[in-house]
Amino acid sequence: MEPILKINDVQKSFGMTKVLDGISFEMIEGECICLLGSSGSGKSTLLQIIAGLLKAEHGEINMSGLQALSRNKFIPPEKRPINMVFQDYALWPHMTVRKNIEYGLKMSKVPESIRRKRIESVSQLLQLKGLLNRLPSELSGGQQQRVGIARALATEPNILLMDEPLSNLDVKLRTEMRSELANILRRLSITTIYVTHDMMEAFALADRILVLHQGKIAQLASPQKMYEEPETLGVAQLMGYQNRLKGKITSINDGTATIHCGEYSVKGTLQTGQNDKLSVGDDVLVMLQLEAIHFDSVSFQLENYIEAKIVQVIYEGSRWRYRLEMKDGQYIEALHTKKQSLDDIMNISFSVQQTRIFKL
Ligand SMILES: Nc1ncnc2c1ncn2[C@@H]1O[C@H](COP(=O)(O)OP(=O)(O)OP(=O)(O)O)[C@@H](O)[C@H]1O
Ligand SMILES: [Mg+2]
Repeated sequence: MEPILKINDVQKSFGMTKVLDGISFEMIEGECICLLGSSGSGKSTLLQIIAGLLKAEHGEINMSGLQALSRNKFIPPEKRPINMVFQDYALWPHMTVRKNIEYGLKMSKVPESIRRKRIESVSQLLQLKGLLNRLPSELSGGQQQRVGIARALATEPNILLMDEPLSNLDVKLRTEMRSELANILRRLSITTIYVTHDMMEAFALADRILVLHQGKIAQLASPQKMYEEPETLGVAQLMGYQNRLKGKITSINDGTATIHCGEYSVKGTLQTGQNDKLSVGDDVLVMLQLEAIHFDSVSFQLENYIEAKIVQVIYEGSRWRYRLEMKDGQYIEALHTKKQSLDDIMNISFSVQQTRIFKL
């Protein structure tokens, strides 16, 4: 299938700072990519360049066969087949919800009968039917956010850009909205780039996740691939690898590294491409998800087996969260459904495959 969006070597600086340093990727129709990255990593900048609200110094962008950006070409935002939902909704304060939704349609000269149908269907979709005659100031934050999304969907863009559209909602509404939005985007098969800080939001929505780091793409992969095989330390952190142990590689055999951490050793599988980057003697960080850590009995087949003492117990409803101290003074956190006590000595274990290793 021919890609609907092609981004090639986009570069952007503000003053002396290079914010985007050669970004290239492609999307197929109906795909949703979530952009993740720390604050200031250039997510909004990239979205604005794709929308045409900002000019890049270099690069090509092609959307639905239209060359929107190249060395001597720049198509303005209103002529691009895209729409954008902003973090702060950016609703017209003096217009009713209906007028807000209708505005973009009028601008692109959509006939009145079609405008009415579109308003009807998006307000149904986003449960705004009873609110069409209100002003934005008469709506809650969540309702305003839904109007912002409705307004963008009503124009039926080929490509939809969303910059943290759910960030101002409370946790409950946000969780509801993210699955609602995932349904809507799939049903309408809209090609979407979606910026978020929230890993769970990315998992609910994304076909692929793109992580930006220091102006470059750190990784572009499916949610599962990225969670199981983060390629960099930064990606691992974004994917929630909360446990880190410092150590030194003492041997590498058949794609498995042994790492010495003072009083004990840990084994971990090297990921594709890591073989030539890591060598014996390297100082590394061993990274593990909370769920990878098991207590005692279940763990016969798990090759990493270490003694640790419980130093903190936090009750979390359906489970307990434990902080454990290892013999070398490093800490690890784990979740477990059974109650243990402070100072209990546990045998914790984790598999070689779930152990990720990164050079320090
Ligand atoms: N108009 C501007 N002038 C100068 N610097 C800018 C401008 N816009 C953005 N920047 C800088 O570019 C970098 C990237 O900003 P951007 O808003 O794209 O980050 P972001 O990834 O969206 O961050 P956040 O998660 O906080 O929204 C930041 O260091 C920011 O300070
Ligand atoms: Mg931003």
